[in-house]
Amino acid sequence: MQPVKLIFATNNQHKVDEIRSVLKGNLDIVTLREAGIDQEIPEPFNTLEENARTKSETIYKMTGTDCFSEDTGLETEALNGEPGVKSARYAGDGRSFDANIDKLLDKLRGQTNRRARFRTVISLIINGQETLFEGICEGRIIEERRGNNGFGYDPVFVPDGADESFAEMDMSGKNKFSHRKKATEKLVAFLNSL
Ligand code: IMP
Repeated sequence: MQPVKLIFATNNQHKVDEIRSVLKGNLDIVTLREAGIDQEIPEPFNTLEENARTKSETIYKMTGTDCFSEDTGLETEALNGEPGVKSARYAGDGRSFDANIDKLLDKLRGQTNRRARFRTVISLIINGQETLFEGICEGRIIEERRGNNGFGYDPVFVPDGADESFAEMDMSGKNKFSHRKKATEKLVAFLNSL
């Protein structure tokens, strides 16, 4: 059987690698760059759902090809859900992973409630019809960075049930807990049910 081809509306190579590791070749995903689309799609909304939907709708309108996008946020309890939908630009438009972590650790300094979760929303468009999938990973923010793998807030996030931060795990370790993996598995189950 030919693998199903879908455009993944991102150029974030970390996300592409993580999602490909879950798909294991059952789906042929093509990044924006590989599809010849050289464009940043804005994420101006206040919810992950609206941002994900806008990205997939924009690409579907441009290409007429089935596609999906994802938006992810880190939500902390003590900061009422911050940085949430603003996770990429928490410390400003530079989108610096380091500056974002510094800001988060500063705001949580002295805070005993370190509870946090990653939430991924995937918006899939097949034949013009949209479906949303969600994946959540509960955990906590540690006081200092640990590890060099992964991206974003991985060095300061320890998922429930683990002792290591995401950045101390390899891909298969992160996949035991990952929000992105959970959302991707729902997408795969949905495609298999069609
Ligand atoms: P976006 O989905 O590209 O808007 O991602 C928002 C930001 O959340 C990224 O810039 C990263 O800093 C962070 N982020 C998203 N997914 C992860 C993850 O799996 N681990 C750590 N940080 C992440």
